[in-house]
Amino acid sequence: MPVPDTAAISLVPLRWWHVEQVLPLERELFGPSAWTAETFWSELAHPENRQYLVAVEPSPGASADSEDGTGPGDGGTRIVGYAGVMVNASQADVQTIAVAPRAAGRGLGGRLLDALVGAAVRRGATCLMLEVRSDNAPALRLYTGRGFERIAIRRGYYQPEGADAWVMRRRPLTLPARDDSGSGCSGRHEQDQGRREQGQDDRKQREQGQDDRKQREQQQREQGPREERA
Ligand SMILES: CC(C)(COP(=O)(O)OP(=O)(O)OC[C@H]1O[C@@H](n2cnc3c(N)ncnc32)[C@H](O)[C@@H]1OP(=O)(O)O)[C@@H](O)C(=O)NCCC(=O)NCCS
Repeated sequence: MPVPDTAAISLVPLRWWHVEQVLPLERELFGPSAWTAETFWSELAHPENRQYLVAVEPSPGASADSEDGTGPGDGGTRIVGYAGVMVNASQADVQTIAVAPRAAGRGLGGRLLDALVGAAVRRGATCLMLEVRSDNAPALRLYTGRGFERIAIRRGYYQPEGADAWVMRRRPLTLPARDDSGSGCSGRHEQDQGRREQGQDDRKQREQGQDDRKQREQQQREQGPREERA
């Protein structure tokens, strides 16, 4: 498969019809801890405090109206990355970020991260948090290069390998020079409603009992006996 032309890649809101295309990439990149389709549905069900984006490249011969991946019939586009953020009042959390190996190392991860920062700022966040494996060199480089600092270490956070997690934070947050988080950002009314509903959302999510990465991460966060300040 050819290396994508990054200039031709656009970021658009992740919609339900993208999930089937995202799943193989998710499994390739995250292995046993990959999110399931249900996890993506669950995340997409909360646009009031989540924003997800996909990076799409037009396929050769794609029809003009499908090139931006904006419709359910967008078989003419290929997904080469995706990312999502959750915003709760002033704090935002990177939910996921991923770039297809054939498109990696060409700035797309940075573009996606900038878009998450833009989305978080426009929703009122003043800091952005994330967790990353201590041995994930490309991700660490991406985050440190964009102003994230390690604030804590969770020993043995990633099981079964027992790898540590770094908890990283960027603050304050400012709009990036290039912000193509697009039209998927909610308006003021939705933000306020989202904040009101957020406690209820989080309860619902816990009750769903999904056997996936988010649930394990949540559990590990809640147990949290082995966190050390950095
Ligand atoms: C992490 C990830 C999103 C980065 O995407 P990307 O498109 O390669 O990122 P960029 O091209 O914007 O590069 C970001 C930085 O990482 C560096 N980088 C890229 N590939 C690298 C590699 N294999 N080893 C070390 N550094 C690497 C780049 O040089 C760049 O650093 P710089 O800004 O100092 O030059 C991508 O590697 C990925 O999807 N990994 C698998 C999923 C994952 O681990 N997600 C993060 C979970 S916390």
